[in-house]
Amino acid sequence: MRLTALSLWALLAATVGLGNALLWSSVAQAQQRDDTNTGQSATHQPSSRLTESDIARMLPATDMGAGAAMRHGARVDASDDGPATPFDAASIPRNPLAPDADAIGAKSCAACHALESMQAAHSLHVASFRAGGASSGPQAACEACHGPGSEHAKNPAAPGLIIAYTRDAKTPVDVQTRTCLSCHVGGARQHWIGSVHQERGLSCTDCHNPMTRLSAEGVLANESINQVCATCHQDIRAQFNRRSHMPLPEGQMSCVDCHNPHGSITQPLLKTDTVNETCTTCHAEKRGPFLFEHAPVAENCLNCHTPHGSNQENLLALPVPMLCQQCHTNDDHVNDLLTRQSLRSGLVPDERVMERACLSCHSNIHGSNNPNGAKFHQ
Ligand code: HEC
Ligand code: HEC
Ligand code: HEC
Ligand code: HEC
Ligand code: HEC
Ligand code: HEC
Ligand code: HEC
Ligand code: HEC
Ligand code: HEC
Ligand code: HEC
Repeated sequence: MRLTALSLWALLAATVGLGNALLWSSVAQAQQRDDTNTGQSATHQPSSRLTESDIARMLPATDMGAGAAMRHGARVDASDDGPATPFDAASIPRNPLAPDADAIGAKSCAACHALESMQAAHSLHVASFRAGGASSGPQAACEACHGPGSEHAKNPAAPGLIIAYTRDAKTPVDVQTRTCLSCHVGGARQHWIGSVHQERGLSCTDCHNPMTRLSAEGVLANESINQVCATCHQDIRAQFNRRSHMPLPEGQMSCVDCHNPHGSITQPLLKTDTVNETCTTCHAEKRGPFLFEHAPVAENCLNCHTPHGSNQENLLALPVPMLCQQCHTNDDHVNDLLTRQSLRSGLVPDERVMERACLSCHSNIHGSNNPNGAKFHQ
């Protein structure tokens, strides 16, 4: 038994994300069948079987988001970075609209909600609650999220007696989010309270749907992260269809590469402290330090670029030379070629030289490490 448990454990440790989830849900189902067939508790199982405590041990390291952030040395306040409450410690949240209700257990819910119970049986949460319910028991599989159900079972048509998560639900949004946050408060969500999404009344379930499996990861309310965001931010998603864009429509990037939808200390919901840090997580070569720095680059990439898409090349906010001429004048250009005396066109600066050509001479516009690169020619 030890061996089986150990090798399974090793296998689990070696897999991540989806693999993990699938594995425990099948373990969980096996366990579930076992319980219902024999009606016996884990202690009486044959020695080749996994015990409930084995499974509880195998449940995932909580809050992968926070763990990853810590590993990459991002700023995470350690004191707030508690892992998600494990499944086996699930408590039944209070429902302020049914203060006297008691828990009635998942089997009672299934009696009336066979369809939802079946659909949700394979979901990360329900499968894991069923497998890992040591203290609250597999009973908590529904009520850990929906709150105690006795009042609702007595009077199902009265709205509010069960914690509901849909937009038109009677349950106030802050009760909905508080219930999810009771397990998920740390890590990426430590700035949820006060974030623009929280203040505008979004619920966790505007982006997540833990009852069905619509996305490969993250129990999202839609197939992909970008589709989730696009349900409300269609304008931004549309900018990614412009001529120049980063490969988000191609599926190689998503909105959360740059934003934390749960809230952050940087506007607008950026994952890092500054715009430049966000950009240079991928475009490291633009970070410098350079021997000759171009001041606006070091200050903010958005002095010249737009993040979501542009009809100019290279995501530029304006075409060259207008881009440069926001800050530099032609008149004082020191190159002999371009002085009024030297130009064939006389007093008018030569369009052919000046027009789009700043970059053919000033080619290292982000900064130069060449000893002769003070004007970014090389
Ligand atoms: C009793 C505790 C508990 C409650 C209540 C709870 N969760 Fe979870 N949830 C977990 C655990 C444990 C995991 C798995 C480990 C992890 O991701 O931290 C998890 C995983 C997740 C994940 C990641 C799934 C993945 O595939 O990456 C999301 C998203 C999530 N929960 C959202 C929610 C939402 C939304 C609610 C409220 C409707 C909620 N949870 C309620 C404990 C809970
Ligand atoms: C006696 C049958 C019965 C039992 C037991 C029961 N429900 Fe319901 N539930 C219903 C009916 C019927 C509705 C639909 C009410 C309506 O649409 O007006 C409903 C609606 C709901 C809703 C949606 C509420 C809303 O406002 O949108 C949720 C969530 C829910 N039930 C969860 C549960 C959970 C969790 C349990 C177990 C604790 C449970 N139910 C037990 C019959 C039951
Ligand atoms: C992780 C938390 C979580 C768990 C566990 C959970 N639910 Fe839900 N449930 C939700 C959320 C969130 C929604 C709203 C989904 C949506 O956006 O449509 C919901 C919706 C529902 C609804 C209403 C469906 C509708 O279309 O309005 C019913 C009924 C329901 N759940 C029953 C159950 C039952 C029965 C169980 C146990 C087998 C269960 N839930 C377990 C979070 C949970
Ligand atoms: C505006 C959309 C949005 C809202 C609102 C939202 N989330 Fe998320 N959440 C996401 C997306 C997108 C991901 C996937 C992020 C990733 O893969 O890095 C995610 C990931 C997660 C994860 C798993 C990864 C992690 O960070 O640990 C959990 C748990 C989670 N959300 C819980 C919640 C809870 C609880 C709430 C409500 C307080 C909530 N979310 C509100 C969009 C949202
Ligand atoms: C249910 C609708 C909804 C969804 C889904 C949604 N948002 Fe939002 N988002 C809003 C609202 C409302 C605002 C506030 C807009 C305003 O005040 O102008 C907002 C604002 C923002 C802002 C600007 C913040 C600021 O400080 O100005 C960003 C960035 C953002 N959302 C990113 C995302 C990302 C990324 C996703 C997907 C993971 C997402 N949103 C999903 C509704 C949504
Ligand atoms: C490459 C990084 C990056 C990606 C990917 C990205 N954003 Fe942004 N986003 C930014 C930056 C930087 C800003 C700040 C723009 C500014 O200050 O002008 C911003 C601003 C915003 C704003 C608020 C300001 C505005 O322009 O209205 C919203 C809303 C927003 N992003 C949503 C999204 C959504 C939705 C997606 C996915 C479709 C997305 N972003 C993808 C970097 C990104
Ligand atoms: C998650 C990684 C990632 C982040 C963060 C990121 N980029 Fe990109 N960026 C890419 C990828 C991938 C490409 C496409 C590269 C290619 O096709 O060779 C790209 C391309 C570009 C291009 C060239 C576009 C074109 O039309 O050729 C510019 C300009 C650019 N990014 C600027 C930015 C700016 C400004 C930021 C910060 C707001 C940023 N990037 C943040 C991954 C990223
Ligand atoms: C002074 C204006 C300006 C600023 C500020 C600026 N860029 Fe650029 N960027 C340009 C121009 C002009 C091009 C086109 C270069 C070319 O065609 O050689 C470009 C091209 C790019 C490209 C695509 C071509 C390449 O060299 O890989 C990336 C990626 C890029 N910039 C990233 C960034 C990042 C990241 C920042 C912030 C650290 C930044 N830029 C700040 C002007 C600027
Ligand atoms: C947002 C304003 C801004 C934009 C846009 C901008 N620059 Fe600059 N540039 C500066 C500043 C500020 C300096 C530093 C001036 C100084 O040190 O005296 C500078 C320095 C330079 C220098 C070196 C000057 C010197 O005296 O060493 C060159 C060359 C230059 N920029 C070319 C360009 C070109 C070409 C573009 C367009 C692709 C451009 N700049 C866009 C603000 C800008
Ligand atoms: C034919 C090549 C060429 C083109 C085209 C060109 N430059 Fe220059 N530029 C130079 C040279 C060479 C110098 C440096 C002269 C020196 O070292 O004294 C210079 C210097 C500069 C300086 C620094 C001025 C100073 O006071 O030191 C700026 C700013 C500048 N260029 C901006 C631009 C802008 C903006 C454009 C496009 C509108 C542009 N240049 C087009 C070759 C060019």
